Amino acid sequence: MAATGTRDATAAVAAYLQQHETKGLLRFITCGSVDDGKSTLIGRLLHDTRGLFEDQLAALGADSRRHGTQGDNIDYALLLDGLAAEREQGITIDVAYRFFSTERRKFIVADCPGHEQYTRNMATGASTADVAVVLVDARKGLLTQTRRHSYIVSLLGIRHVALAVNKMDLVGFDRDVYEAIVAEYRALATQLGIADVTAVPLSALDGDNLLQRSARTPWYDGPALLEWLESVDPARGGTDVGFRLPVQWVNRPNRTQASTDFRGFAGTVAAGAVRPGDEVVVLPSGRRSRVARIVTADGDLDVAREGHAVTLTLTDEVDASRGDLIASAQHPPQVADQFAAHVLWLGEQRLLPGRPYWLKLGARTVSASVTEIKHRVDVNTQEHLAAKHLELNEVGVCNLYLDHAVPFEAYADNRALGGFVLIDRQSNATVAAGTIDFALRRAGNIHWQHVDVDKAARARSKAQVPRCAWFTGLSGSGKSTIANLVEKKLHALGHHTYILDGDNVRHGLNKDLGFTAEDRVENVRRVAEVARLMTDAGLIVLVSFISPFRAERRLARALFDPGEFVEVYVDTPLAVAEQRDAKGLYAKARAGQIPNFTGIDSPYEVPEAAELVLDTVHESADVLAQRVVDRLLA
Ligand code: ADX
Repeated sequence: MAATGTRDATAAVAAYLQQHETKGLLRFITCGSVDDGKSTLIGRLLHDTRGLFEDQLAALGADSRRHGTQGDNIDYALLLDGLAAEREQGITIDVAYRFFSTERRKFIVADCPGHEQYTRNMATGASTADVAVVLVDARKGLLTQTRRHSYIVSLLGIRHVALAVNKMDLVGFDRDVYEAIVAEYRALATQLGIADVTAVPLSALDGDNLLQRSARTPWYDGPALLEWLESVDPARGGTDVGFRLPVQWVNRPNRTQASTDFRGFAGTVAAGAVRPGDEVVVLPSGRRSRVARIVTADGDLDVAREGHAVTLTLTDEVDASRGDLIASAQHPPQVADQFAAHVLWLGEQRLLPGRPYWLKLGARTVSASVTEIKHRVDVNTQEHLAAKHLELNEVGVCNLYLDHAVPFEAYADNRALGGFVLIDRQSNATVAAGTIDFALRRAGNIHWQHVDVDKAARARSKAQVPRCAWFTGLSGSGKSTIANLVEKKLHALGHHTYILDGDNVRHGLNKDLGFTAEDRVENVRRVAEVARLMTDAGLIVLVSFISPFRAERRLARALFDPGEFVEVYVDTPLAVAEQRDAKGLYAKARAGQIPNFTGIDSPYEVPEAAELVLDTVHESADVLAQRVVDRLLA
């Protein structure tokens, strides 16, 4: 924080804003490679326009939110919401939002580091920007980061770019150098679908063509960068999608607080406009009603438009909760659970198809997994490449499957309802930014076939309670031996059982899979689904797979009813399993003949909350099997 007290800063900013109340606001991002001159550029813009720094902005944002200030100001609040969300997730993001103003406009600039490892920050900044300034060092021309950032800019729907060819003073304001760079960039922009590129020959250091046109580039007849920023129309050109309000929170009648004496749905209008009397639909429930009032701290409104933070009350006792969407009943958005999307991977660990992540879209969070990576995009050449996984900073076109249907819009039509992030369920880190391209038609077309004889009926005729015992542990830990004994005991008691064993299933259903991380994820996903079908058939299923990753074991568990899934950790230390080496595989693995061997050069994640932990060193297989039987029949 600056030395200035927060209250002083708040007052200063509030006064400043008051003075500039009527001006429009433009949010932009500066990007490009390291050393292309971003800091100099922003420093000069702020200095020469007497801009304000983010500390003061933060103070303002907090303030405007508390008081529910209307109109433009809400942009800051929104922006800060994004930051707060990131902070809650324990991520340090490095996007500095700076604020300045001219006679014609107010500006918020997202200043992101240029290094490749900060691509995450660049994407965060771009996701709130209307336009982008891409910096290029005139001496170096287009670099990989220029291309990568431009790709992300286009992915995130920014359609207006200023190409700032910087450090022109260091190439003697040579027109040919400038024209060559501009031509190359225009070709790239065309490929990326960035419709509007304005190039400016610049010296951020000396100020040429920054605030005013420079006498040192007589051959240039375009605008100075600031003139462009003041005049560019940030319209995004998406189709008009009708009114959308993602519900951020719900005011319920509350006797202790005089201010909340009605049920209201608060949020920021993401698209379209709404008036009292308009018919709306609450999604995903599909309940319809009409808008009664549009409430704000400054009184009721006749109309609320995109960007306005409002509280709606409805004419009927319809309920909605955080994450729901209130939309125009005439033009409702689609609701789907399967999408094709562009995904920018930001995780240190690679994206694995089949692994569940949290997907956050608007105010809604659901579980989601990538079912298929259709291709990866080379950000340098735009080439489509085959891919089984995505690494840090790679972009892929993927199919996603959500566990709940959500209202959505293509990102091209609506950022708020088409942009999402994926969050790792263990670390809570944001691991991807995505943009929805379209719903997969099959999402709406495959229905759950109703059957009259259900699980309970099948289980009754077998006189047993269906269960899934999930044995996990190292190769050679004794999973199959114990599972086999459990089955014998259950069978002797007249129960209907089935064993799914890794070695066996890999000969049939999963014979196309090997032992890479992505193949193991898929191996376990398939077997979990099969085990679920079998418990649905009323069986007691014994699954014996190494299943080395927590995420997939959790995914398996989530498929079952509460109490049905019994995780059995066969806890045999690596040294013991290796010493037993019943199949001779450890010896081979140590000799380098089996790559990706669990415990040797592929990880095993020990269960944190298994229902049973079996110590095979100190107890016999028979005793342990009996414990499993007792637990399954309990
Ligand atoms: S899992 O990790 O995908 O769950 P799974 O249980 O199906 O593994 O298969 C493990 C069995 O495959 C082992 O018991 C062993 O016999 C054999 N195997 C062959 N290669 C490997 C390997 N690289 N890592 C572990 N097990 C292997």
